[in-house]
Amino acid sequence: MPFGKKTLRDVDVFGKKVLVRVDFNVPIDEFGNIEDDTRIRSSLPTIEYLLDAKAKVILMSHLGRPKGKRDPKFSLAPVAKRLSRYLNREVKLAPACVGEDVKKMVQELKEGEVLLLENLRFNPGEENKDEEFAKELASYGEVYINDAFGTCHRKHSSVYLVPKFLKPAVMGFLLEKEITYFERAMVNPQRPVVAIIGGAKVSSKLGILKNLLRRVDKLFVGGAMAFTFIKAMGYPVGNSLVEHELLETARDIIDVAKKLGVKFYLPVDFVVGTEISDQTPTKVVPWQEIPEGWMGLDIGPVSVSLLKEVISDAQTIIWNGPMGVFELDRFKDGTYETAKMLAQSSALTIAGGGDTDHAIHKAGVYNAIDFVSTGGGAFLELLEGKTLPCIEVLDDKA
Ligand code: 3PG
Repeated sequence: MPFGKKTLRDVDVFGKKVLVRVDFNVPIDEFGNIEDDTRIRSSLPTIEYLLDAKAKVILMSHLGRPKGKRDPKFSLAPVAKRLSRYLNREVKLAPACVGEDVKKMVQELKEGEVLLLENLRFNPGEENKDEEFAKELASYGEVYINDAFGTCHRKHSSVYLVPKFLKPAVMGFLLEKEITYFERAMVNPQRPVVAIIGGAKVSSKLGILKNLLRRVDKLFVGGAMAFTFIKAMGYPVGNSLVEHELLETARDIIDVAKKLGVKFYLPVDFVVGTEISDQTPTKVVPWQEIPEGWMGLDIGPVSVSLLKEVISDAQTIIWNGPMGVFELDRFKDGTYETAKMLAQSSALTIAGGGDTDHAIHKAGVYNAIDFVSTGGGAFLELLEGKTLPCIEVLDDKA
């Protein structure tokens, strides 16, 4: 019973018009090719279940940020095509997300057919939380399913208002899976729990670090964030990225970790360069010896060994944020090695966040990690200990 909410299994969908909010916000290149369709594939269990139950399936999603205006660049047409292929049946694309033509298409929908509404964000009503817009969407279905985990932190009409107007309103299988894994890692975890947090800025991960300190046994901080901590301890960091206004906060975090008995680790060596480019000269230096004029751009090999040691007895590992500038070939190793470590670990391994997901795919270990969240911002908000408003509004189990 994830978060005490009803799921698709708790409602009767047989032969019904089922309105499903999915998150098909996938990267599409300038030629209209989908670069990564994980989010589409992740929604298949819910859609296939509904089709087996002879439901009339109406899917709705946003794509990109077209700011309330129709923009062909953000059309869901490539998604409809890809989904047709996966489902082995035609997925019709509505010309808009609301309006007379859409209403007619919904009315004419037969059992076992799938209709995808055009990008919700072509209509200003989606982001403005327009009640009339939400009511019109709600009128298309007899049951509402939220399977858009990646959007659950946005109080937008289709995810936040529609489930107030259309009941029953329950979780789809992807949302259920996301929350179930999250609960296994953060609410009732097998211990020891190790969190590996990377990324560039302490400021953007402050909430996460504070929340994790109360839940984990060990915390490893990598990525450029580490330099703010190293500077806070009084060591030179050369030209590495530092948030000077957070030095005191960094010291507090180390103190709180000590008080709570959480083992706190930083990288012990770095790959440094003179600029963020694949052309820069590089060398590996110990953490206290980053030279003037150089900057840390990845964790070094000894840090990788340390991290291996840190996770060796873990029963649960949570990972968010790259260890270095993994987009550049010369600074990808720390992040890729972290991904591989998780893949090889026998612990429950959970990872998430846009860059982390991307790095795991690039390292080629996506299928070997127990669960990679489809959420970016939504996953981060859960790690921060926040509740997701669009899950709150779904029907309670009790
Ligand atoms: C995401 O990709 O994180 C979600 O689809 C939400 O998209 P947004 O950040 O544009 O609201």
